[in-house]
Amino acid sequence: MMRNGIKNKKVILAVCGGIAAYKSIEILRLLKKAGAEVRVIMTQSAQWFVGALTFEALSGQSVFKDMFQEGSEASFRHIDWAREADGVIIAPATANTIGKLANGIADDPLSTFMLAVASPVLICPSMNTHMYANQAVQRNLDTLRSDGYVVVEPASGQLACGTTGPGRLPEPEEIFDRFLGCLSPKDLVGKKILVTAGPTIEPIDPVRFISNRSSGKMGFAVARAAEHRGAEVTLISGPTHLADPMNVTTIRVRTAEEMAGHVFQQMENADVIIKSAAVSDYGPKESEAHKIKKGKNELVLHLQQNEDILKVLGQKKKHQILVGFAAETKDLEKNATQKLAEKNLDIIAGNLVGSSDSGFESDTNTVTLFFKDGTTESLPTMEKLEVAHILLDRIATKVLRAAKAPKSTKN
Ligand code: PMT
Repeated sequence: MMRNGIKNKKVILAVCGGIAAYKSIEILRLLKKAGAEVRVIMTQSAQWFVGALTFEALSGQSVFKDMFQEGSEASFRHIDWAREADGVIIAPATANTIGKLANGIADDPLSTFMLAVASPVLICPSMNTHMYANQAVQRNLDTLRSDGYVVVEPASGQLACGTTGPGRLPEPEEIFDRFLGCLSPKDLVGKKILVTAGPTIEPIDPVRFISNRSSGKMGFAVARAAEHRGAEVTLISGPTHLADPMNVTTIRVRTAEEMAGHVFQQMENADVIIKSAAVSDYGPKESEAHKIKKGKNELVLHLQQNEDILKVLGQKKKHQILVGFAAETKDLEKNATQKLAEKNLDIIAGNLVGSSDSGFESDTNTVTLFFKDGTTESLPTMEKLEVAHILLDRIATKVLRAAKAPKSTKN
């Protein structure tokens, strides 16, 4: 089962007439890349900003832009598309469209279609700062929120009209991420999930360090997926190039020692701890205060073992569900199950590293899940976000549910 939440889903992208309409092209591209089937609706004013042909070419489908002049098959398009839609994004959403939706007006393809929609809807307002602050617009947005639509706060900055303030359409990646959240089940609401990600770096001197190839992608995907499913997520990450995930408390650290300090501090609060970070097993015994000068032919570095954070968590564990990752180049099952037992874990996700589509740096991963009860589950190679969702599925069903089940009482 594909669980990135969007593969093969039918998504409606609605574009209104605003200067940010060009950004919708990128939203469409992201949706298509993730495997969604995208249909586009454009208001009349949107077509002044971007040509419908662009969306037609990229979506591979004709754009719905006129109720009456597109042949007989268009007559019920507003109903058919609404019935078939798995989710809707309106970006940019103008004050005019927001006003119509809040008041049930149906006088063009988009507003008419919206009256028939039952699937999740993400509304992304974008307009001049003063227009956005206008009481009528804010009142209409409140109505839309209470009607169950998800409204994305616009970003702040310099707008095309010269004003500075809120009103910018957020970046397409952010809108895409929020939309994934709209489509996700909310089965982790009320759960506090602590995730670690990325490498740690152990300084040799002020300019050199020991580290590994972890990009943070796997751990960030776990944090994003958990947030999408309603959990309260804290992410502790070593150095990566990835931006903080939305609505996730992100703590950036450098060394294994710093990571350990934050993890132990957060432990008590967490219901689930997922340790995807590639923590350096060893670090230099001493870090030089000044850059080591080139001189001798050989240089000996004395390393010492870092604390095994997960092992300590396993020893201190009370109510927490503990999940580790095992990065192996061989003997995956033997090594992963050994770590599962040694570190007192509920699940360990074993991944073979060293190939371009699995483990470090890649967007995909090939993972086998090893459970405390001795069962295993091998997953095919898939996007890290999908791996994250499957891992969370198992945590939600197999582990959290088992932890909640009443203990059998013997008479
Ligand atoms: O970041 P990416 O580029 O997306 O790559 C993802 C990944 C390959 C890093 C990830 O999928 C992964 O396998 N993470 C764990 C890597 C690792 O350190 O494995 P390990 O077998 O050395 O450690 C086993 C477990 O103990 C891990 O959960 C690790 O976080 C934990 N550990 C290890 C050493 C240590 N000192 N403290 C720890 O907590």
